[in-house]
Amino acid sequence: MTNRKMITAALPYANGPVHIGHLAGVYIPADVYARFQRRTGADVAFIGGSDEHGIPITIRARKEGVTPQDIVNKYHEIIKNSFADLGISFDEYSRTTSKKHYEVSQDFFKTLYNKNKFQEEVSEQYYDEQAGEFLADRYIVGTCPNCGNDGAYGDQCEKCGSTLSPTELINPKSMLSGNVPILKETKNWYLPLNDYENFLNEWIIEGHKDDWKTNVYGQVKSWLNDGLKPRAMTRDLNWGVPVPLPDAEGKVLYVWFDAPIGYISFTQEWAEKNGKNWKDYWQSEESDLIHFIGKDNIVFHCIIFPAMMKAHGDYKMPKNVPAFEFLNLENDKISTSRNWAVWAHEYLEDFPGQQDVLRYALLSSAPETKDNNFTWKDFQTKNNSELVGIFGNFINRVAVLTHKYYAGKIPQGKMDSEALSEIHKSATEIRSFLDKFEFRNALSAMMNLARFGNQYLQIKEPWKTIKTDETVTANSMYTAAQIAAALAQICEPFMPFSSDKLLNMFNLTKQNWQELETAETYISTGHQINEAALLFSKIEDETIDFQIHKLESTKQNNKKTNPNANPVKDEIQFDDFTKIDLRTATILTAEKVEKADKLLKFTVDTGVDVRTVVSGVAESFSPEECVGKQVMILLNLAPRKIRGIESQGMLLLTTKPDGRLSFVTPDEKVENGVEIG
Ligand code: MF3
Ligand code: ZN
Repeated sequence: MTNRKMITAALPYANGPVHIGHLAGVYIPADVYARFQRRTGADVAFIGGSDEHGIPITIRARKEGVTPQDIVNKYHEIIKNSFADLGISFDEYSRTTSKKHYEVSQDFFKTLYNKNKFQEEVSEQYYDEQAGEFLADRYIVGTCPNCGNDGAYGDQCEKCGSTLSPTELINPKSMLSGNVPILKETKNWYLPLNDYENFLNEWIIEGHKDDWKTNVYGQVKSWLNDGLKPRAMTRDLNWGVPVPLPDAEGKVLYVWFDAPIGYISFTQEWAEKNGKNWKDYWQSEESDLIHFIGKDNIVFHCIIFPAMMKAHGDYKMPKNVPAFEFLNLENDKISTSRNWAVWAHEYLEDFPGQQDVLRYALLSSAPETKDNNFTWKDFQTKNNSELVGIFGNFINRVAVLTHKYYAGKIPQGKMDSEALSEIHKSATEIRSFLDKFEFRNALSAMMNLARFGNQYLQIKEPWKTIKTDETVTANSMYTAAQIAAALAQICEPFMPFSSDKLLNMFNLTKQNWQELETAETYISTGHQINEAALLFSKIEDETIDFQIHKLESTKQNNKKTNPNANPVKDEIQFDDFTKIDLRTATILTAEKVEKADKLLKFTVDTGVDVRTVVSGVAESFSPEECVGKQVMILLNLAPRKIRGIESQGMLLLTTKPDGRLSFVTPDEKVENGVEIG
């Protein structure tokens, strides 16, 4: 029986570059797994691509003032290059705007349609009459019914975090035109997920209690406990794969319908180019389907996509869905909109040739079972003490001493049996950890072998014994060379660039993993090795400080463009502004207003006259503090009675960070009555 592995990694939205969170929580582990499987001789298809439909794309396009196609072209290129440069060894990295994907996803939809798997439902959706478009939830803003925030979206209020539906918003407005949207009837095709509850229960809840990760299993269980509902698989939108039905003008496939089908389309693209049969990977008993995803994708990969495949009928269910938690950056949530991230393409620019350092650092803090944290200091320590101090140091000593004592030829010697079993243990442990998707443990098993090698040399001290006992020295050096050669092989899934360098350095070719678990020798006596290559180099404090500084300035910028600030008010014309008569003035007297804790009564010299103004500043100032202050006054505001006192104008105030008010005053003292504007 063929051991086939159909490995997918979540398709990143092509609305921005990828960052360390994506890498640590999906792509690097998926790559380690794919590389490892290839080494075991499995027939691997490792497939990825860009997710180019959906609202995240159209929103980004609006923000940048370009078309969605422009956006996806730009970011697909950036993302694809970052993956290639980091050694993510996709067999195919494609995109959901490819012609093939349109065909395959439309075909999938038609199969379900013809099998009567959809329910047609008419619902009322918000429609922007001026724009002539139905509005995605994200395109409707209004007042949150829970907290009163008037910048809440149709799907969520970002201030209080509550999930909303667009019809719950108070005073909804279309983001496209600013107009009040109307409710209009529209027909869509729904997949009745409730029909798949029994199947999902049996397959996952009963079948995968022990071999799926608890975070994945738990989430699926709670979805199923809550009960599933029909979910629309089409949307009224103009960006996406058109619904392949005659009466579906202006409708596209739901992005979560088309995107996972992307895995299948891209496998087909790859298979066509490489003379393979894609069905061997998707529809065969000999193939294991494994989805690498982040935790926010669990429902789509464990409920919706399986229901789609089940409805279709020809597909095999995933064998496992290893989902990762999230990675934080310097103890703060990674955020694209706040630019709080380490971007893959920027890392590659700032740390040329150091891909494996990032791979190593991210793997060692992969958020496997809980959210984890990346810090630059930690990154530096991992490089300097582990990669340079242990791994690089060991390899370098072996190479340098072999050249020095034996002209670069592996000496004849006897293998230390403890060392041999360490090698076997490392290779075997890595296999069993990776089988369980325990990447951090697998990485440690690799590093432990380097650590063992380092200690071995430290104990044997060939640089001392060379003066006294050549046989002992040859045995130690022979053994050390075996460990180094084994490491060159074993480190490949984790650190492919270093493995390449090492294999070159030792003149070796890749061995099958089973061989690594049992071999007696990894490099033979008399084998000529090349000059020692530089694997890792110390990362200095300046380099790290530069990165930390970069993040600090992001923080500063974010403070300036405060996301919690109130939204900008409706636009006014210049004429509106010229109606406002603002002047400089000086406070002459100030006193408390009886029975009103917040109010002070002022008399002010406006340069034009002396008037009375009442202002709600008593909690921020004592009357004495105010007298003599130069302030700014709105002079032509219609008079109002406050607590029986006529207030003839308004003093300009702002709020300090501590919440206290402060007068807006001119930079330098000027005459009263000077116009402001
Ligand atoms: N683009 C989605 C995200 O970033 C993931 C899509 S995975 C797929 O969350 F299966 F739908 F392709
Ligand atoms: Zn709210």
